[in-house]
Amino acid sequence: MNLGKLKIEIENYIISNSEELESFRIYFLGSKGLIKEQYGELKKISNDQKRSFGKQINEIRIIAEQKFSTAKISINTAKPENKEQVDFSMPGDQIEIGAHHPLSIIRKEIIELFSKIGFNISVGPEIEDDWHNFSALNFPKEHPARDMQDTFFIDKSKEEIALRTHTSSVQVRMMETNTPPIRTISPGRVYRNEAISARAHCFFHQVEGLYIDKGVSFADLKQTLFYFVKELFGEKIKIRFRPSYFPFTEPSAEVDISCSICSAKGCSVCKNTGWLEILGCGMVDPNVLDACGIDSEEFSGFAFGMGIERIAQLKYKVNDLRFYSENDVRFLEQFKSAL
Ligand code: DAH
Repeated sequence: MNLGKLKIEIENYIISNSEELESFRIYFLGSKGLIKEQYGELKKISNDQKRSFGKQINEIRIIAEQKFSTAKISINTAKPENKEQVDFSMPGDQIEIGAHHPLSIIRKEIIELFSKIGFNISVGPEIEDDWHNFSALNFPKEHPARDMQDTFFIDKSKEEIALRTHTSSVQVRMMETNTPPIRTISPGRVYRNEAISARAHCFFHQVEGLYIDKGVSFADLKQTLFYFVKELFGEKIKIRFRPSYFPFTEPSAEVDISCSICSAKGCSVCKNTGWLEILGCGMVDPNVLDACGIDSEEFSGFAFGMGIERIAQLKYKVNDLRFYSENDVRFLEQFKSAL
């Protein structure tokens, strides 16, 4: 090859990316490249021309090497090409804002409603001992709620330590460590050994309420719950108290509200009764007060407990408990505007 042509070819070779850089190297500078080939030509040339030919190839090799190293530096330091024109007048990308979980929304609402009437917030451990979860709450030793089918025991052989089955355990802790008046609500997660379905889950959330003072009566309990239910579901909602039984309250009741899903006309959720059960309550049994170190001759009190999932179901018309823990964004994002 003519050396002049080779030089022009080197100079005109376009290197704009690392692939082209490598092709350049192989084509001109490689062990089988054009420059090596020219060095081979030297042998065939007459002695008087060797000097100037050799000099010219050396110069061409230096040109090629310099071109190679300059291109290499600029490719390695180059920023990614910004081929697109930026239009600064375009609106920015929409930022996706997360939503509060429906249970958090309800819990917050419940806490706010009770804070307004002087209740403070208390919490207790999720891993509880038999005393706080059962014995202090007047559960007889053979009570079916202690059964293995309901309770997750940590150590099956001893049945002493378990995942709490209700937040009533926090009542006990509050009574043991405070002197009346006590006005507290305890939100928290509870566990039961249930098969997971639309209507049952192995964990769910409750809010417990407790009020202990001198002269607290069932009338106070009723008034407190009337206030709560009307604030939460609206003035039009109807409430009824039904006699019931809990080991830790005497008398005990369950509270039903008129079905918010069908406006009490009758539907599958209220099983055509027009009523829905939302909580359990009662006057704290004197045995419980005494077990927790509060003189039942001097003080009386009421307690109540409700499941938050149930309240959320009625407020948001969610008919499957599993939605609350599956974290499906399509479910969760529906609560963006709820808070
Ligand atoms: N602990 C009960 C449960 O989990 C709910 C309950 C009922 C709580 C009556 C109370 C109460 O404080 O007075 O089913």
